[in-house]
Amino acid sequence: MQDFAGKVAVITGGANGLGLAMARRFGAAGMKIVIGDIETGALADAEASLQAAGIEVVGRRTDVALSGDLDALADAAYERFGAVHILANNAGVGGSPGAMWELSEADWQWVIDVDLWSVIHGIRAFVPRMIDGGEEGHIINTASVAGLISGAVGGPYTVAKFGVVALSEQLYFELGRAEHSIGVSVLCPGFVNTRIYDSDRNRQESYGQPALDESAERAERREALEAMRESMIQPETIGDRVFDAVVENQLYIVEPGSDAVSDAIQRRLDHVSARTNPALDFGII
Ligand SMILES: NC(=O)c1ccc[n+]([C@@H]2O[C@H](COP(=O)([O-])OP(=O)(O)OC[C@H]3O[C@@H](n4cnc5c(N)ncnc54)[C@H](O)[C@@H]3O)[C@@H](O)[C@H]2O)c1
Repeated sequence: MQDFAGKVAVITGGANGLGLAMARRFGAAGMKIVIGDIETGALADAEASLQAAGIEVVGRRTDVALSGDLDALADAAYERFGAVHILANNAGVGGSPGAMWELSEADWQWVIDVDLWSVIHGIRAFVPRMIDGGEEGHIINTASVAGLISGAVGGPYTVAKFGVVALSEQLYFELGRAEHSIGVSVLCPGFVNTRIYDSDRNRQESYGQPALDESAERAERREALEAMRESMIQPETIGDRVFDAVVENQLYIVEPGSDAVSDAIQRRLDHVSARTNPALDFGII
């Protein structure tokens, strides 16, 4: 996509972190913005700050785990602006502490619903209407470096994010082969300075309490992450990278583009290709 002024971007999880950074960046390029988010206070703040920057914006409470909420978000976007050109399926949560076998069904369901089903709901609710609109467009799905390398973070998160990478690649092939002018990017960041490490705040009541309390190990890890916070990538850097990737129609956005991340991805691919087992400390942290 090359022309942004007057076009429309819908961003889930746009009230905070990476989604808000994308909203600011696309808004700065003259786009109208629709944000769907479950956190109503942050949503109102985000709307106000985008408006203060002169950006036309609509915020709507949306639980991305619910397909009907994505349909309603699409209806709201089309009613207000008549078209959607960019869809960022970005809302996400980190998950509960514990090894895979220690987690409850609800622990799994929460993460798979919010991190993976949300993207499926978004594709189904928006893409047919974007295709019918016949204009140039772009889909951005937020995965993670954890969607390219397993073993680094929790099980459900890794499973969901690998799913988002696979979904995005498949969508790229299907839209491309059907010759629709809608590009696809999958965003795979490393550690970014956002509130993802505190995503329990957004666990819906329907999923109950986590099976395990925060373990000592996990608490230690959280503290280490807090200490790293200032050296993490800032969300604005990701907003700029996503914007450039849409302009360049780039499928994979892996940030940071450091040797450590590239080497870890390459090691995984080498093991798959050579049918050898990875070391147990395989990963980037
Ligand atoms: N921050 C990182 O280090 C990092 C790294 C890799 C990938 N990611 C991914 O980036 C995306 C954005 O996360 P972030 O880092 O900006 O964290 P964040 O917590 O700052 O933002 C996540 C947003 O999603 C919203 N959200 C959570 N559950 C929701 C639901 N059910 N329905 C609608 N909205 C919901 C939150 O309210 C919040 O606005 C996520 O998909 C996350 O997995 C983050």
